[in-house]
Amino acid sequence: MSNFNIATLDGDGIGPEVIKQGIKVLNQVGLKFGHTFRFDFAPVGAVAIDETGSPLPDDTLDLCKRSDAIFFGSIGHPRFDNDPSAKVRPEQGLLKLRKELGLYANLRPVAGYDELTHLSPLRPERMKGVDMLIVRELTGGIYFGEKGRRDGGDTAYDTCLYTRPEIERIVKMGFEAAGNRRSKLTLVDKANVMESSRLWREVTREMAGQYPDIELNFMFVDNAAMQLILNPAQFDVIVTSNMFGDILSDASSVLAGSLGLLPSSSIGSQVGMFEPIHGSWPEGAGQDRANPIATILSAAMMLDHLGLVKEGDAIRVAVNATLASGTGTEDLNPKKKVGTEEMGDLIAAALK
Ligand code: IPM
Ligand code: MN
Repeated sequence: MSNFNIATLDGDGIGPEVIKQGIKVLNQVGLKFGHTFRFDFAPVGAVAIDETGSPLPDDTLDLCKRSDAIFFGSIGHPRFDNDPSAKVRPEQGLLKLRKELGLYANLRPVAGYDELTHLSPLRPERMKGVDMLIVRELTGGIYFGEKGRRDGGDTAYDTCLYTRPEIERIVKMGFEAAGNRRSKLTLVDKANVMESSRLWREVTREMAGQYPDIELNFMFVDNAAMQLILNPAQFDVIVTSNMFGDILSDASSVLAGSLGLLPSSSIGSQVGMFEPIHGSWPEGAGQDRANPIATILSAAMMLDHLGLVKEGDAIRVAVNATLASGTGTEDLNPKKKVGTEEMGDLIAAALK
């Protein structure tokens, strides 16, 4: 029996309603296995900008630092998206949180569900055996390198910078993850063009000697984008830089049939952060339409990270059983359609 303090940053759009279902399921896990989860809420994103002027207020960051884990909903609001002059943006809150907490590794598992292959944009036979993990570097590269404007504003630049230690720690995570799975690691880069990619290859090749049981291969990112659609089952673990991982993980996320199914964890320091990979879907907010499964599976990843692996497995079993019963939110085009709340209720009930 243990107690855990969870910093709960439910954020914008559908964030609060999907997080609510995650909490429901975690509380049920607590009852079943004798743990107590305390959820402390704090603002982040557009909500936080409205309340305080900052997308990541100091109080929110402090709460995260002293908690056991961070449960994150989603951020973003359309009013910022088409305003290139906006000085503060919700996304800055998320980037700062990752950087401040040293969350350099973003793990995004993508697996098909047999019941849902008809929802995949790929033909069912191409979805057979799809089970991969994208390990995305999260606190370096072009999203964090020097950026600016010159020539009176007419020349703009972003810099993709990586150091050897930054590459080593994420590639190590890739090798180790592969060791716990099907022992295959693919480094995705653009080493035919980019110097930073050539450093990634050099470092990864050097490290391969320490992992003789892992089959390592290299793939250019443009080819990888194509291969993810042609033959996604060939991948086990993909390790890649920040921007390539951002793009490829969104592309792969729909293979399973719905963006509403896929969880993620961001780890690297003591406290990890767990969030659905879908965004804030502002048009769907407050309508009881969002699929809470990505968030509920993120809660399962949180339990794994806290050392509660059988508890995490119990959530995954409950989700699978609920999906197998043919009940689902509208994105799953189910036999029996339910709303966000009821989907959360059903998964919590399946845990009993
Ligand atoms: C993600 C998101 C973020 C990113 C944005 C919101 C900054 O797209 O988590 O993938 O690009 O990292
Ligand atoms: Mn993204």
